[in-house]
Amino acid sequence: MWRFVHLTDSHLGQEDSEEWNNHTLHPFMPDIMRCLRDDIQHVEPEFILATGDLASNHGRDAIFAARDFFDFLNVPYFPLGGNTDFGDDMSRRYFIEAFSGHLPLADTVYSFNNRNLHFCVLDPWWYWSDGTLAPCAENEEAHRSGSWAIPPAQLRWLDDDLHSHKSWPTVIAMHYPVIPVAGRLQRLNKQLSGELVNSELFMSLLRRHPQVRLLLSGHRHMHYIVPAGHMTQVTTAALIEYPIEFRDVHVYDDRIEIHTLGLSNEEYANRSLIEGNGWPAGEEADRHAVVSLEFEG
Ligand SMILES: [Fe+2]
Repeated sequence: MWRFVHLTDSHLGQEDSEEWNNHTLHPFMPDIMRCLRDDIQHVEPEFILATGDLASNHGRDAIFAARDFFDFLNVPYFPLGGNTDFGDDMSRRYFIEAFSGHLPLADTVYSFNNRNLHFCVLDPWWYWSDGTLAPCAENEEAHRSGSWAIPPAQLRWLDDDLHSHKSWPTVIAMHYPVIPVAGRLQRLNKQLSGELVNSELFMSLLRRHPQVRLLLSGHRHMHYIVPAGHMTQVTTAALIEYPIEFRDVHVYDDRIEIHTLGLSNEEYANRSLIEGNGWPAGEEADRHAVVSLEFEG
């Protein structure tokens, strides 16, 4: 068995707190990252997969500040960008520059292998009101609550990549969940944070590749786990607010186990929590899952 950590939405590089699902803890992030560093040493992951909104904004300073915090964790990691990281024409350039030592190639779309798993990382673009697709947001409001789509060129790249890794159980990671928040939790999620508009097209591609077993995402600031045919989508809550948890992923020859861990210092989660808003921690089914790696190619 080997392990990796999935975490997301750290929103680093901002001074002030705000209210999202609960109180965000921007001023406490240096302490939280210190605690996380100590806690992750006990997990002994081979790497961290960080699924976007690593920085609080798409400015160069915030992206480099996020890079420094992640370097401080002292564990190899693979970074993805989200809507707060990739807001304008320059931000992907800053991201690639800042994280060059951690990206397998100088791109925001990439794949890699680790032991018995193949990983594919995608970078959806903004879907503008005129129906076009652009790498940056249409306006200020769309930065946080827009619509996104996976560009056709990335779908073709993914299809080719999956064809050439047919025998590899595969994990696909991107910032936005493909499958919306499950109904049982949707009524509680008051923050409208946009959607992936070509999710059906994307899922139809994935259904042609039985080796795709796991979809990892963030963005919603809540834990939820949804089975989808031969795949399981694991969406993980944000590091910036309650419940301040991460996924400890155990990988065996025949299965992946998803475990959910909080910080050893519960003070931060308690400080973030607004009474009655405990739902981002999900239900039991959103906190543990077993994903089979067996498939017929
Ligand atoms: Fe996001």
